[in-house]
Amino acid sequence: MDRLTGQVALITGAGSGMGRAVSQMFVQEGAAVVLVDNQAEPLAETVGRIEEAGGQVESAVCDVSDENSVNRAVAAGIRRFGKLTVIYNNAGIMPEQDHSVLDTDPEVWDWVQDVNLKGVYLVCKYGIPALLEAGGGSVINVASFVALVGCTVPQDSYTASKGGVIALTRSMAAQFGSRGVRVNAICPGPIETPLLMDWLLTDPDAKSLRLSRIPLGRFGKPEDIGYLAIYLASPESAWMTGAALNIDGGITSYYF
Ligand SMILES: NC(=O)c1ccc[n+]([C@@H]2O[C@H](COP(=O)([O-])OP(=O)(O)OC[C@H]3O[C@@H](n4cnc5c(N)ncnc54)[C@H](O)[C@@H]3O)[C@@H](O)[C@H]2O)c1
Repeated sequence: MDRLTGQVALITGAGSGMGRAVSQMFVQEGAAVVLVDNQAEPLAETVGRIEEAGGQVESAVCDVSDENSVNRAVAAGIRRFGKLTVIYNNAGIMPEQDHSVLDTDPEVWDWVQDVNLKGVYLVCKYGIPALLEAGGGSVINVASFVALVGCTVPQDSYTASKGGVIALTRSMAAQFGSRGVRVNAICPGPIETPLLMDWLLTDPDAKSLRLSRIPLGRFGKPEDIGYLAIYLASPESAWMTGAALNIDGGITSYYF
């Protein structure tokens, strides 16, 4: 219960799904958390749960694609806790208007890139100096299994944004390793969160097709990702940087 004692973690997209679960799990392991989301109400719900459990939490309504907003959120966290040692870049979107390169509007393409990739850049731009100041830390970027395998049901901007997140992870790992900042990516498979289930609920065929490709026979739960996140945030992973770790029920290992 104390694997993250002394850590201060900034978590984006903390109002829902994996971001909410990871926030709660980090607090259970002793971390203080700075929670960020662009939706005030769901963010307040996560904050309330953590306060009820006696956790230390600061929060900021923040759009990760907006530079001033990110700058303010990082500053609020540092003001409250005096430092930052972990960045969990989790905020992401998967709008249904994002489809094939043939039929995706440029505005939709840019919207997805702005949140999923530029958002990671901006949070790192303002957050990594704080990790350096603290003498080191861990950046964890949430990519996706779709960056690793092709799919005939395309979400091309989403897929490209997650590929960008993996490439950026490696570049930052190389740059900051000698100064004690580790940077790794998590590539989740299909996880039971609103982002995925809102879509699959309306399309039973899409749901059973995906389930049939997962050797472990079920969708992931946010907690499955949370356990890996705790490891990457803690000193237990001190010798790991630049990795892109699949945690996907086996979906990317399955031929047929
Ligand atoms: N669910 C899956 O199957 C799956 C699989 C692989 C990767 N992922 C990735 O995991 C991450 C979390 O996904 P989830 O399934 O928990 O999604 P979710 O929709 O449940 O939660 C995402 C959160 O991000 C917030 N958010 C969206 N845009 C934002 C912005 N501009 N600024 C700040 N916050 C913003 C939302 O309000 C929401 O609270 C995303 O990056 C997603 O792409 C999800």
